[in-house]
Parts: sequence; structure tokens; C-alpha cells
Amino acid sequence: MSVPAPFRLGILGSGKGSNFVAIADALAAGQIPAAVALVVSDVPDAGILAAAQARGFPARHIPPGRFRTKLDEEAEASFLAALQEAQVDLVVLAGFMRILKGDFLRHFEGRVVNIHPSLLPSFPGLAAWKQALDYGVKVTGCTVHLVDQGIDTGPILAQRAVPVRDDDTPATLHERIQVAERELYPAVIGALARGELRVRGRGAAGFQG
Ligand code: GAR
Repeated sequence: MSVPAPFRLGILGSGKGSNFVAIADALAAGQIPAAVALVVSDVPDAGILAAAQARGFPARHIPPGRFRTKLDEEAEASFLAALQEAQVDLVVLAGFMRILKGDFLRHFEGRVVNIHPSLLPSFPGLAAWKQALDYGVKVTGCTVHLVDQGIDTGPILAQRAVPVRDDDTPATLHERIQVAERELYPAVIGALARGELRVRGRGAAGFQG
């Protein structure tokens, strides 16, 4: 009897990697039936690369090219080739701060997930926790969504609400949102790996979070 191949995750990040660590811990605890095939960063000294190496996962820096907010064509081709070579089933953006487009999204259509630190469609883009604080909302949170050609516009898979406190600073609010992220993201990736999530139009069903 043949053993089914594991569901392979390719993780992209630009920062300290706390979402990645939460995912790795959930994998180690047997809560996500998947394997980390590759971790890639556009930032050479990103914490996410050190965290991946410390856990023995393949980890690579790939230079992003000449733009600030996206990958240039050559870099995008290198990211795509690395993930294809690693036979990745699902691309997990864990604090990856560049826009993906073109061939990359065509190849991985419907198979790229992102976590965003607000309740989308409110506050897309950068420093979403600060946007929420500046606007004065009383509740914000985090959203896991599929990535499409827009910025933080793809179908929503799951959300978690986080209260905004009167004495919050951008740092305290972001930290509280990140606590929610570290619970929500591994749970959604587990549901995806088990094939429990069904995307219907703009939303998804099947996540019991
Ligand atoms: C997370 O809060 C994530 O939601 C945010 O970057 C942080 C990465 O933290 N992502 C975005 O803003 C994407 N637009 P981490 O490196 O500790 O996981």
C-alpha cells in the first residue's frame, strides 16, 4: 500500500517569523498534517530564516531585485522556481512584505494564503494596526485570505476579532493582534491541509475555528 505524499508548505516571510514559529510548533505537535518544504525570505538577515534553520528546515534568501514593494521579474522567477523545485502544494505568506503577481500567481492560483493584521476589507496595506488605531475603531483583528492580483483583496478564509483598548499604542495593539494570528493561522493551514476548507465565491466554508 502506498503512503500518501505529505502536503508540502512553502513559507515566505520578511520579518521576525513569529507566525512561522507558531506554524512550525503546530506541525511538530501533529496539528497540521503537512511538511515544510522550503522557507524563503527577501531579507538576508530576517528572523524567519534563522528560526527555520534552527528547526532544520531548508531556508533560503532570494534577493528581491530593484523594487521596494514587489519582486522584479527575475526575482519572481527565482522565487517561483525555488518553490516549484521544492514541490510546494501551498504557499504560506507569513509576514512577506512584497506584492506577488504575474506568473507566480498564475502558477499557484488559489494556493497562496496570507495573514493580514486587520479585519479585511478594512485597513489593507501597510501597518494595518496603526491604521485601525488612527481611525478610532473599537474592534480590529486578523484575516487569513487567499492571495489574488489585488492588495489584500482575495477570498477570506477566516477572521479573528481583537478589541482595541483606550490606552493602546501601535505596539501593544499589534502584539495583541499577533497573539490572535498565532492561533488562527496554524488552525487555517491545518484545515487546508486536511482538505476541509471550500472556497465559494468571495468566502470560504468549512473552517471550525
Ligand atoms: C504579522 O503581523 C502579519 O500579519 C503582518 O506582518 C507581521 C509579520 O510578523 N503582515 C502584513 O502586514 C502583510 N501585509 P511575523 O514575521 O512575526 O510573523
